[in-house]
Amino acid sequence: MSAWAAGAIRRVREDHRPTPLRELRVGGARVFLKDETTLPTGSTKDRAVAAMLCHAIASGRVTEGTGVVVATAGAVAVSTARYAALLDLPFTALVPANSDPDVLERIVHAGGRWQRAAQPPAALQHEARTLAEGWGAHFLDHFADAEPAVAAWPPTLADELFAQLPEPPRWVVVGAGTGATSAAIGRHIRREGLDTRLALVDPENSAYFPAWASGAHDYGTGLPSRIPGIGRPRVEPGFQPGVLDLVVPVPDAASVAALHWLHRRGVDAGPSTGAALWGIHHLVGAMREAGPFAAVIADRGTPYRRTFFDRAWLESRGLSPDPYADRLGP
Ligand SMILES: Cc1ncc(COP(=O)(O)O)c(C=O)c1O
Repeated sequence: MSAWAAGAIRRVREDHRPTPLRELRVGGARVFLKDETTLPTGSTKDRAVAAMLCHAIASGRVTEGTGVVVATAGAVAVSTARYAALLDLPFTALVPANSDPDVLERIVHAGGRWQRAAQPPAALQHEARTLAEGWGAHFLDHFADAEPAVAAWPPTLADELFAQLPEPPRWVVVGAGTGATSAAIGRHIRREGLDTRLALVDPENSAYFPAWASGAHDYGTGLPSRIPGIGRPRVEPGFQPGVLDLVVPVPDAASVAALHWLHRRGVDAGPSTGAALWGIHHLVGAMREAGPFAAVIADRGTPYRRTFFDRAWLESRGLSPDPYADRLGP
């Protein structure tokens, strides 16, 4: 391995700081929240991106000065911009036409560049791969690469979480985008022989709940999720249904209600954490589970001020939390 590769991997790994746990109560049950907003870009995606870059460098696919391309205007793009800058690698995010201008600004601020896709969103990954090939760059395909990379570069979020908890939780409740986080947690539970169950919360339009319930793992909805970071129109290659004990479909407005409930308790989280909290309320209320529970604060609420925390925006999209708020309490 070259000196550059060894140094680059060391820099990425030494850069990581374990994220803290926070605690709150749902009913009488203890809930531990792993606060991933303390990661460098404020998103749990920093973990997956760090692992994918280490994996690509260790495999010789990224060397000194190799360009890196991603196909998203989500948290992965901001995170990759940041790690690419750390390693002096040129970075481009190929983004869909309707991308959030705030995220585009954060990509540039983190040291990367973005360019709009010429083709429709369904062809985004293909277009990015072609672009990367043309440039001799590395296409970081997070839907295919995150899960194996996270598994190959411990400590995972799961290793850290279980070492921090005072006792193994009864349930861990998370969402799935690439599937890397839920797969890492499920594997950790089995490797350590823990009496912990894993529940996945899945938003509207996502293929994961119907795929899990029907056993049809090529299930596709063709519709995008409205909850950033979790839920997919198709079953991604990293999704490991075999490690899940339960999948809870969560109405998007219920995720919003739980998100607001969290904010009233001083937890500055994004909508996917609302979905997880709704799942925990479901386990406590409908399934009479006593906990303790663990979940992930995957990103901050701040980027959603004008969307998930704006009444008019929510009403205009049929996402008013009112029908679900009563079930959560004040
Ligand atoms: C609540 C929650 N759990 C888990 C994840 C992890 O997603 P992935 O399946 O890509 O690891 C996310 C990503 O945003 C999330 O918001």
